[in-house]
Amino acid sequence: PRKIIIDTDPGQDDAVAILLALASPEDFDVIGVVAVAGNVGLHHNANNARKIVELAGRPDVPVYAGCARPMRRTLVTAEHVHGDTGLNGPDLPAPKIELQPQHGVDYIIETLLSAEPKTITLCTLGPLTNIGMALVKEPKIAERVAEIVMMGGAYFEVGNITPAAEFNIYVDPEAADIVFRSGIKITVLPLDVTHQIQSTPARLNAILALGNRSGQAAYDMLTFSEGFDLKKYGWEGAPLHDPTVIAYLIDPTLFEGRECNVTVETASELTVGMTVTDYWHVTDKPRNATYLRNGNAEGLFKLLTERLARLP
Ligand code: BDR
Ligand code: CA
Repeated sequence: PRKIIIDTDPGQDDAVAILLALASPEDFDVIGVVAVAGNVGLHHNANNARKIVELAGRPDVPVYAGCARPMRRTLVTAEHVHGDTGLNGPDLPAPKIELQPQHGVDYIIETLLSAEPKTITLCTLGPLTNIGMALVKEPKIAERVAEIVMMGGAYFEVGNITPAAEFNIYVDPEAADIVFRSGIKITVLPLDVTHQIQSTPARLNAILALGNRSGQAAYDMLTFSEGFDLKKYGWEGAPLHDPTVIAYLIDPTLFEGRECNVTVETASELTVGMTVTDYWHVTDKPRNATYLRNGNAEGLFKLLTERLARLP
């Protein structure tokens, strides 16, 4: 199995991604979960991450808290999407496990420096603050990361927090810019993909019918998310953003895209946080990312449902 660190701001869809990873021991050894400020403040996100590893029956997975705010900007949160705790919907008990005492950024650096080079994959499901900070503090980690698979960005579907920008990149565009210039192998799961992966009553009912606690919680979380997307977009389902990262690593054939240049806008007030994607190769800029554009919703929900069945 591939060793992964999940960097996250849970978040209902982050939580489902973490459950999917923990339900897939043949694919992943989840060596740590690091919380970052994003959907809500760091305190709630770190709390939620602990609730989720416990829900999955994996209190042994260490949970760290990383950065409480973006590198340069004031934190923008999304309580209007995720609820005041960041994880409204399911009724989960307060976590019993402690947060690890080490700062999440130092954990990422130390883990990468002490492991064999290119054996650890970073799965990022929130703003890129922790990864950007780790790269600033210890640039040597760039050559030690196996790859980064991130949920973030948008090009063909443009923005969900501004007309031009996707939330994870918008919250900390400076950190995202550092990551995209780092030379690390990057795969991007943007809104272009995640807006194709929507819940439907049949898909959610199949998860509920599993009859386990994790299935119930995933159902409650995704039903909560639907409330928002229904109002905002008039959609019946909610896009399943962050689980696409984990699903891609399990089965890349569920997705299509190409290598191209992705550059993050950091200067313009109007379009800050936009992931300007040279999908058509109209420049000679280096192909620094694999930008995915299409995803197979039916296949992804099938995989998710099969895997969630294994959890408590
Ligand atoms: C991203 O923003 C968050 O609200 C979701 O958890 C996802 O990571 C989608 O834009
Ligand atoms: Ca997220």
